[in-house]
Amino acid sequence: MNIKLNYTYALSDVVGEHGVSPEELSALKDRLADAKKAVAQKKTDGKLGFMELPYKTDETAKIKRLAAKMKGRFENFVVVGIGGSALGNIALQGALRHPYWNLLDKKSRQGWMRIFVPDNVDPEFVKGLSDVIDFRKTAFNVISKSGTTAEGLANFFFFKKMLEAKAGKKYRDHLIFTTDAKKGFLRDISNKEGITSFDIPVNVGGRFSVLSPVGLISAAASGIKIERILAGARAMDEKCAASADALGDPAAVFAALNYLLYQKGKRICVMFPYSNALYPMADWFRQLWAESLGKKSNARGETVNVGPTPVKALGATDQHSQVQLYIEGPYDKIVVFLSAGLFRKTAPIPKVGYSHYLEGRSLAELIKCEEDATRNALAKEKRPNMTIEIPTIDEENIGGILYMLELATAYAGELFDINAFDQPGVELGKQLTYGLMGRAGFETQKKDIEEFKNRFPQKIV
Ligand code: PA5
Repeated sequence: MNIKLNYTYALSDVVGEHGVSPEELSALKDRLADAKKAVAQKKTDGKLGFMELPYKTDETAKIKRLAAKMKGRFENFVVVGIGGSALGNIALQGALRHPYWNLLDKKSRQGWMRIFVPDNVDPEFVKGLSDVIDFRKTAFNVISKSGTTAEGLANFFFFKKMLEAKAGKKYRDHLIFTTDAKKGFLRDISNKEGITSFDIPVNVGGRFSVLSPVGLISAAASGIKIERILAGARAMDEKCAASADALGDPAAVFAALNYLLYQKGKRICVMFPYSNALYPMADWFRQLWAESLGKKSNARGETVNVGPTPVKALGATDQHSQVQLYIEGPYDKIVVFLSAGLFRKTAPIPKVGYSHYLEGRSLAELIKCEEDATRNALAKEKRPNMTIEIPTIDEENIGGILYMLELATAYAGELFDINAFDQPGVELGKQLTYGLMGRAGFETQKKDIEEFKNRFPQKIV
């Protein structure tokens, strides 16, 4: 694991009043140290299960055994879940598998399974998947911490019917549930029907669960070395914990800079990988940062609404879509580049007889130059930015980045004085959905939302 956070261009020396001054950073040092202590205490109190996950190596062995067993039997592996029960799976696949993995033949996949993550209830999207997979050769991993979320259950029921039709009574052998150890609808059926299951620890929230069976089973099903992901996360945990000085801990520095820049009106945080493989990580981060830090707080006696807005962009693609805004638009953003030193494939730009400056160079050189140009152009225009650098995209570095950003989120929660681990807004949305879908016990929610809608005459042109 070799991850560096380069924050030179987030500092006032470079971007003036739009950056963080050395004084501001050192003034925050005590609060940051307190945030580190508070997080360590919550970990000791057993409240922060995500910090224990990198050390659960016995579980990794169990998952690998399951994956090896499934390998000979199934060709497809479908993850049925949403939010924190899906995004980590997509991030790991994107980063650590071939960009067109599902189109490779079985031999090129070394017999490992194709992975699909239909994380929505769009009927075209879900039915579309059922059109292209052979159910007799497909395993379904239904993931839900609560075991009750409407989207995951609805998709499960949809696939179950077809699976039963194709696989008959043996349909249960195609199912794996990942859910709470004791409660919820999925747990009940797993117990009743004897379906293979894995537990999501009670102290691990959905968006912090990528390093649990939630994210690791699909990764193992596609042959990713999950033990190396955890090794990378452990190395990051040790690096952050070992730093007595809060400003030597990359997760703490990431949290501190984002917090201080937020106070300076940089309320949008753009996660900007210059790598297609890392793009789904930006999506994963978007949920982590938004759901954890977007909160109503009463901590100081008055109600305040806080939270940076995470946005994702892809380099170099979004240089032709977003960068104009980032360079000349409002001074309301901090840009975080996600940067891999070396790409795992080479693509030379051959000499094709045009005597063109691009001939004889490579796509890697081009994308690297573009990243460098954007980073420096932003800094020249006084736009604060920082870069999370890894030498190459591999399991250890991905595990390290995931863990660093989770820990940074926990620290940022302390700095913003909010609870980073609940999600009342998400729960409200779930309850209103239950009400509108006629679930017993949620009649009030249905009535409330209907009354609210009817209060306003619709203005439509
Ligand atoms: O982070 C969270 O808690 C949420 O985004 C959940 O992951 C999401 O709502 C899915 O919930 P569940 O895993 O309970 O189905």
